[in-house]
Amino acid sequence: MSNDRKMLVTSALPYANGAIHLGHLVEYIQTDIFVRYQRLRGRVCYYVCADDTHGTPIMLKAEADGVSPEELIAKVAAEHIRDFSDFGIRFDRFGSTHSDENRQLAEDFYHKLRDAGHIAVRTIEQAFDPVKQLFLPDRFIKGECPRCHAADQYGDSCEACGATYAPHDLINPVSALSGATPITKSSEHYFFKLNDFAADLKAFTREGALQPEACHKLDEWLTAGLTDWDISRDAPYFGFRIPGTEDKYFYVWLDAPVGYIATFWQLRNELEGRRLSLSDICDQWSQYEVYHFIGKDILYFHALFWPAMLQAARLARPKSINAHGFLTVNGKKMSKSRGTFITARAYLDCLPPEYLRYYFAAKLNAGIEDLDLNLDDFRARINSDLVGKLVNIASRTSQLLAKYLDNALSDTLPDTTLYQEFLLAGQTIAGHYETREYSRAIKAIMDLADRANRYVDETRPWEMARAVQRRAELQQVCTQALNLFRVLVAYLKPVLPQTATSVETLLGGPELTFESVKTPWLGHTIQPYTHLMRRIEASDIRPLMPDPETPTKAESADPKAGPAKAPTASQTQTPGEDLGLITAEDFGRVDLRVARVVNAEYLEGADKLLKLSLDLGEGRIRTVFAGIRHAYPPESLVGRLVVCVANLKPRKMRFGVSEGMVLAASDGTGLFLVNMDAGAQPGMKIR
Ligand code: 2FM
Ligand code: ZN
Repeated sequence: MSNDRKMLVTSALPYANGAIHLGHLVEYIQTDIFVRYQRLRGRVCYYVCADDTHGTPIMLKAEADGVSPEELIAKVAAEHIRDFSDFGIRFDRFGSTHSDENRQLAEDFYHKLRDAGHIAVRTIEQAFDPVKQLFLPDRFIKGECPRCHAADQYGDSCEACGATYAPHDLINPVSALSGATPITKSSEHYFFKLNDFAADLKAFTREGALQPEACHKLDEWLTAGLTDWDISRDAPYFGFRIPGTEDKYFYVWLDAPVGYIATFWQLRNELEGRRLSLSDICDQWSQYEVYHFIGKDILYFHALFWPAMLQAARLARPKSINAHGFLTVNGKKMSKSRGTFITARAYLDCLPPEYLRYYFAAKLNAGIEDLDLNLDDFRARINSDLVGKLVNIASRTSQLLAKYLDNALSDTLPDTTLYQEFLLAGQTIAGHYETREYSRAIKAIMDLADRANRYVDETRPWEMARAVQRRAELQQVCTQALNLFRVLVAYLKPVLPQTATSVETLLGGPELTFESVKTPWLGHTIQPYTHLMRRIEASDIRPLMPDPETPTKAESADPKAGPAKAPTASQTQTPGEDLGLITAEDFGRVDLRVARVVNAEYLEGADKLLKLSLDLGEGRIRTVFAGIRHAYPPESLVGRLVVCVANLKPRKMRFGVSEGMVLAASDGTGLFLVNMDAGAQPGMKIR
């Protein structure tokens, strides 16, 4: 792709009435990786998104919360932005469909559609709640399934037998809002005559914008015949009023995709430092290649309504629409009632965001199949790929380089052929990112990581370290391994941006890109190794697999469900919560390990501290600054076993970074390190 093409990438706009959950994150992570990859290749690529703020559920949620819809959407926007940012989702702009720009554009679309004769006005009959005085969307009507007679089913489909039907087919329907029996009431509605665009939509299936499955679906819809699309809703409704009417509003799905353009408009205003006119932004939209990332459930809106609207308004259609499948957790649909509903925040309270980014990347491809987050597999995969393979390359060799070579890299690489092999693989990996076949990219990168570890195993630098006359050889091998590691981190940068930044700091030198790693990093002094990643323990994922009986922080409102219910007292308070007691899970979060002191030394200028090097097993060496100088001479410590808190956030101190803590008892009269019985081995977990 030439570099003068400009790309605009979007993810579907999340509804503004619920928390971001892991199902959402599949898409945002997929999109963010794509955007970061494009930028890494030097392309102009903007990423925009916004909250989808209109519609009946949001209006009712605000009412239930006792706030105005504007207050609700402002609060939710702040939460969404924080969640996205903590997951490293880097939008150029995150907007809201409740904006002036969006109102102007939605009205403009409507006028263009109407003026060209594509709007029809008809009176229709609908279910109406006589108590709440509003027309009821299908999801707000419940009753007995006309097919299998299951009770309490929604007005559009039966969860028990899968039947789909119209709300008036339900037996004994009631309003989910008031419990009243709905009455039938007629009102005037505005329709978009979709069939006027059948030929354009047919052409769209041949433009290469759609995945094969989506093309097939669109063909099916076109063959079945396109019916008019109802784009209006009666008051009361939270949304934009239709110009020229008193009490009609645009249906949320009319102004939601328009929100893509509106947010792009806000972004361009910001970048150009001026307010662009509506026609300016429409021109600009058509100059960009637009990539939409969506879930397969909203294909209908993006492959049918949206291209037709764009066509009617004489705007360019998207270059690409990428639908993905749904997320299951441990093989099941996430469900509030089963306690398998995991919000972004609940995950972040337990684990680093990049682990999820990596896992999703390792499972994502360009298709629309569903994707499973199996928590045990997740843990095994992260521990094996990221900790066991990737980080292992650097931790083994940089510690040798620190200990024997003052962190200095050699001036040459001993195996340039191997380095070239790594560079060559970059082309294939780039191709996989480009085509959104991330699982293939990850597989190729992990094959290289295996190759790099094999290199270290075969050259045996730890043996070189024992002989003073082999220092030059040792330096070269470590330099080779660290340079291979550097290439891998560059390839993983779209997936693991934070780790890439840490590695840039560790190694120094230019920003990591596919291009910059073509020149190996030689003859420089690197920073002392700091811990890059930790293993996932069973206790880390346990809070994400709650007992279905116990509501946990992993639960939240399902944004697609009907009106929210207030939690009961027993749901908001857990026994013991206000007594300062902790649960077994709380304790389980502290990773206590047996460690062997391999080195202990005084620090110049420190009264209390000793610098300890601790062996935590499997070659994991940690530096810990411990305040035990008065109680223990350093030489008495070497070789003894201690207990180390292994998952403590590394702490920057005057003398360097401390990567843990050793346990000792103290009451001001003395200080006593915790002892281990003979036979314990470094790395053993203390439970
Ligand atoms: O399905 C959803 O969650 C919608 N809020 C997506 C809207 S995407 C776009 F069209 F605005
Ligand atoms: Zn049924």
